[in-house]
Amino acid sequence: MPVNPRHAAESKPAVQAAKSDAQPAEEIFVPEEPRWSLDEIILPAEVKAQLLDVATYSENSHRVFEMWGFKRTHKFSRRIGINLYGAPGTGKTMAAHALAKYLGRKILVVNYADIESKYVGETPKNIRKAFEAAKASNSILFFDEADAILSKRVTNMTQAVDVSVNQTRSVMLMLMNEFQDFIIFATNFIENFDAAFMRRISMHVKFTLPDENCRRQLWRMYTPLEVPHNLDFDELAKKFDGISGSDISNAMLNAAFKAARLKADILDKSLVFEAVENILASKRANSGQ
Ligand SMILES: Nc1ncnc2c1ncn2[C@@H]1O[C@H](COP(=O)(O)OP(=O)(O)OP(=O)(O)O)[C@@H](O)[C@H]1O
Ligand SMILES: [Mg+2]
Repeated sequence: MPVNPRHAAESKPAVQAAKSDAQPAEEIFVPEEPRWSLDEIILPAEVKAQLLDVATYSENSHRVFEMWGFKRTHKFSRRIGINLYGAPGTGKTMAAHALAKYLGRKILVVNYADIESKYVGETPKNIRKAFEAAKASNSILFFDEADAILSKRVTNMTQAVDVSVNQTRSVMLMLMNEFQDFIIFATNFIENFDAAFMRRISMHVKFTLPDENCRRQLWRMYTPLEVPHNLDFDELAKKFDGISGSDISNAMLNAAFKAARLKADILDKSLVFEAVENILASKRANSGQ
């Protein structure tokens, strides 16, 4: 039966707000079992191949740098970051989980909201805790929406908040230099990453919106076998371009709820068309078109 990872992932990752001083790091950053595997992500063959390259690099990184001593001879060329970038809803977060699963490790997910603090100096402290927690639990450190932490340094510092932003980035770069393991980052805004950070990235994987072939697979994947329907996956894949895997997953679920509300016997394709149109309209509105 096709799996529907979306449904398995409804709840938020087990990372609680890092804002309370009283909370020890081990309660704030909780490693979790990866939620997806590589075979659950629908991607063009060349992107899948790149992900496998990343997985292999990660597997061999310990051997090359630690066991073979390259960490001493290549102290300053050591690049430990893996960056997953591209359009929203295309599978970047899924891929980070899948890489951790491939490596047989837990994943420690850090979102900016989990580490940010309104107190100057607290955000870097929280980042340090995330690194410590990953090290202590031997889990893969994953900074989701990493551009929030690693965007270009503010040069015109007029306010305490700018000082704090720069401080956060400096601490992040320093911790990356010291870290023995590789780290995964994901972003929609790679253009915002600063150069010092880019130098520490060994591999970038670009995620694009699915092509027709991938869309066909996504429509099929997000249509459970049990649901009675009259959908034609070829037709759907051809008809709607410019939509993400996340849009397809959402459209199917919205259409199913509408069919249930209408007490329909089957999930009629007109409901799916309508659901996609709604999503496309909201995207257009959101981008000001
Ligand atoms: N390539 C894909 N294959 C299968 N399902 C996908 C794919 N892309 C997205 N999805 C579905 O959409 C959901 C959201 O995907 P995900 O969170 O990985 O996107 P993202 O690229 O991290 O988006 P964002 O940039 O908004 O964080 C997934 O849980 C999954 O249900
Ligand atoms: Mg994401």
